[in-house]
Amino acid sequence: VSETRPPAKNKIFLGTFIHSKTLSELEYLHNAAVAVDSLGTIVAVSPDTDIAKAKSTLLPQLNWPSDDTDMVVAKAGQFFFPGFIDTHLHASQYPNVGLFGNSTLLDWLNTYTFPLEASLSSLPKAQKVYSRVIRKTLSHGTTTAAYYATIDVPATNLLADLCLSSGQRALIGRVCMDQLGPSYYLDEFPAESLAKTKQCIDHVLSKDPKMELITPIITPRFAPACSAPLMKELGQLAKETDLPVQTHISENKNEIALVASLFPDAGDSYAEVYDTFGLLTPRTILAHAVHLTEKEADLVTERKSKVSHCPCSNSAITSGAARVRWLLDKGIEVGLGTDMSGGYSPSVLEAARHAVLVSRHICMDEGKSEERDKLSVEEVLYLATRGGAKVVGMEDKIGGLEVGMEWDAQLVGLHEVDEEEEEEGNVDVFGWESWEEKIAKWVYNGDDRNTKKVWVRGRLVHERK
Ligand code: GUN
Ligand code: FE
Repeated sequence: VSETRPPAKNKIFLGTFIHSKTLSELEYLHNAAVAVDSLGTIVAVSPDTDIAKAKSTLLPQLNWPSDDTDMVVAKAGQFFFPGFIDTHLHASQYPNVGLFGNSTLLDWLNTYTFPLEASLSSLPKAQKVYSRVIRKTLSHGTTTAAYYATIDVPATNLLADLCLSSGQRALIGRVCMDQLGPSYYLDEFPAESLAKTKQCIDHVLSKDPKMELITPIITPRFAPACSAPLMKELGQLAKETDLPVQTHISENKNEIALVASLFPDAGDSYAEVYDTFGLLTPRTILAHAVHLTEKEADLVTERKSKVSHCPCSNSAITSGAARVRWLLDKGIEVGLGTDMSGGYSPSVLEAARHAVLVSRHICMDEGKSEERDKLSVEEVLYLATRGGAKVVGMEDKIGGLEVGMEWDAQLVGLHEVDEEEEEEGNVDVFGWESWEEKIAKWVYNGDDRNTKKVWVRGRLVHERK
């Protein structure tokens, strides 16, 4: 499978555009036009522009013939928003969403996760699961996903092919694990793990040499599942290739104790273990980071590694409450992750909501925290877009709607109660709400029914029928 779609046309989007200006502030552009060229790059953002003005002024300025330019007009009340960035999820675990019972991390892995992941060495099964997870996440507005696949090379390469053909921007990680897993689901030796990782990297680069849509990512599952020699090799590979790295850190207390017992000679903490093996790079995505110590967080700051906050997962499998404000205060870049299927929802909007609620639980944890630990609607939307873009190292390309960036965006519509035609959806607006209020309603009650259209690099990749 390779790029199968025809080249896109130039496009002009018209209506209301909303994106993060800073961590705590959204910018609202009403009656504006955004011009996106055939390569998917935003080439103009023009205020006070309707269709007539776009045709009479903007098109001639751009030298675009009007009969060869698509006009996409948002209806009143709809708005364009940057696509969501899911900085941590397991494509292979999608069939297990909602299945975790009362388990916690280590027994959850053995009971639910390893058997499912192992079964995806069947390519027809992988095809079914991966096609579905891509369609599902796109329908929820996820334009970029940092995926864990499985240890299997052909199935991981299939995930890369499917992202390319579906048009979803993705980081593709073959899972490296040479210990802890069951005998039927393990790389046998560090050398095998490294060689298979390189095969997947080569595959992605053969399909997308400039990494315009898909990027390989080095993926040591987590320290307990990787031998010291394997982590050393992967750290070396990260250094040689300058590719991104993703792993889990400090998710669960038993996991942390396991790391201390498995690696007594590789530093005094979980973060130091990764650092010993060269795995804390500026391009490393650390999922969870729930129980980091002050010293570990300082080390992460120093190494400029990033954190994927996975609140739905952390609550579902009772891992703990990650202190996002504290991480941000340390200067660490934070994005949101659904962590399917530790998390039960494929939606980044749902992750944003959970981030809000977890931050309130931290506040309610008497004596420990302050009001300012609460995250606002604006802040979690920043984490879902600009923050995520920094976490995946693409902040120059995605996360905002600005000239020079790529058009990775979603068209969101809320249900206006006065409308004659009954529209499906959970977010009712009555017409008197401010835009700030509409956005709050979307964050707390929105879902895929509100995500009308989704584009990646200017190409329509999802449309709600
Ligand atoms: N730690 C190691 N593997 C996993 C996984 O698949 N999911 C989560 N949430 N944590 C992990
Ligand atoms: Fe995970």
